[in-house]
Amino acid sequence: MQGLASSEQEMRLRRLFADLLIKKGYEKEVYLLDLSAFFKSHGVYTLSEVQDLWRGHLSKAEVCRHYFSLYVHIPFCRKRCSFCRHYEWTCSSENQLRLYLDSLVFEIRAFKEIFSGVMFKSLYVGGGTANILSPEQIDRLLSEIDLNFRFDDHAEKTFECNPNESSMEKLSVFAGHGINRVSFGVQSYSQDVLGCTHRAHQSEEMVASAIRDAQRFPAFHKINADLLIGLHNDSPKTVCDSFLKLAQLGTGSISLYALKPPLHYIKKYYRGRQDLYDEALSEKLRDFERLVAPITEEFDYVFTPLKEIRANFDAWMFTLRKNYHTGRIYKYVTAEFPIDCLGLGTGAVSTITDHAFYKNQSFTPSAQGGTFEQNGRYRGCLKYGPKEQRVLFILGEIATWNRISKTQYRGMFGSDITADFTVELERLSALGVVSLTDAFVIFERKKPEERFFYALFFLDHKMIFDAMEKLKTKV
Ligand SMILES: C[S@@+](CC[C@H](N)C(=O)[O-])C[C@H]1O[C@@H](n2cnc3c(N)ncnc32)[C@H](O)[C@@H]1O
Ligand code: SF4
Repeated sequence: MQGLASSEQEMRLRRLFADLLIKKGYEKEVYLLDLSAFFKSHGVYTLSEVQDLWRGHLSKAEVCRHYFSLYVHIPFCRKRCSFCRHYEWTCSSENQLRLYLDSLVFEIRAFKEIFSGVMFKSLYVGGGTANILSPEQIDRLLSEIDLNFRFDDHAEKTFECNPNESSMEKLSVFAGHGINRVSFGVQSYSQDVLGCTHRAHQSEEMVASAIRDAQRFPAFHKINADLLIGLHNDSPKTVCDSFLKLAQLGTGSISLYALKPPLHYIKKYYRGRQDLYDEALSEKLRDFERLVAPITEEFDYVFTPLKEIRANFDAWMFTLRKNYHTGRIYKYVTAEFPIDCLGLGTGAVSTITDHAFYKNQSFTPSAQGGTFEQNGRYRGCLKYGPKEQRVLFILGEIATWNRISKTQYRGMFGSDITADFTVELERLSALGVVSLTDAFVIFERKKPEERFFYALFFLDHKMIFDAMEKLKTKV
């Protein structure tokens, strides 16, 4: 009886918190929300403080078994696509790119000494639109990276490309610097779909020639193209037609992203109802899987069946069997071992395992170009304690899947999730929401909103009260 009463109180507290989030305008997007903004310990780090964080981390004996990845962010696009969540700034002048590159070079050099003993396992230059840079600028950036950091012989080195900005000259600069993976944002081949997204300028021929050009370079072991499903006006058939065109080109891998629509998109096309979008998406995915099956068979693409992958997955990968590798490690992939990521450039997120993650905002663009504070200010989510780190990881997992891998958790934090969260897991088990297997903590609720709500049980009272306090002052 006592237990029941206390679990009812616990429910009530989370309900109050969830309601407050919705009241403050997070609406149906709540389940995708990154709660880090509401945790305490925010601050502004100077460059030397960030350098000290890394120095301290790298001096520990156990980091020798960590994987290190380098992420370089180019936060500019020519134009904003209406569906995009990655967009940061419209490039206003060549001067802006030049100044931004100066700031990147400054940052690269600032971390050279600290990372001199590290062999990076991966490089990812992404955006925004990373290949918006000119061939000379790309050469300058990659030369600085080559000169100042060391990479494992088998490191995966990716340059993210918009087909619209691609050229043989840029591709040959990539190849000359050991880039071995290029990833093109295609999204769709359908002009009806592209027309509604501000990408009408992207033609079929443009995509085909960007991919064919890339295929001429043996250096690019992996050529990927991104497609989206869930865009306004698309259908399983249009997505499948786009897939077929990429398959006919022999594209090494095709990543299908389920659109995570911005709120304005939901308002415009789904009467503001996220649940309507979710339903439409599930249906599209199911039909797409059925339609795409014969194409994957004909062109020999390997992929995981839909029912076995994450709900709200990041990308559903289809890989040509002859290119199939499992050992893929880059910024977005967490594996069964700790990954430390050094993120350079404004907007890049860095992760220092079990210690800190922070978002770099050292460059401020302006109409004239932009400024980089040479004393390096890194604003963002910083210095979370061990508990906050663990909760943020759990929330991130639950937002995108219905389970948390115990091994992955142990790899990230060096402790057991069942020991760290004994009370919380008992409470959730008693509510029938969670079950435990040897390998996973499984959330039995299917709806992302429900998963989000019960995930709030991993926050202790202090975290919830702090977050509510912050939310209350938000207008
Ligand atoms: C960082 S973007 C860079 C792509 C590149 N700028 C381009 O458009 O060609 C990487 C990928 O994220 C995916 N993406 C963009 N907006 C998305 C959203 N709202 N939900 C899910 N995926 C999205 C797109 O497939 C895109 O190719
Ligand atoms: S999809 Fe690519 S080009 Fe379009 S806004 Fe997003 S990052 Fe920029």
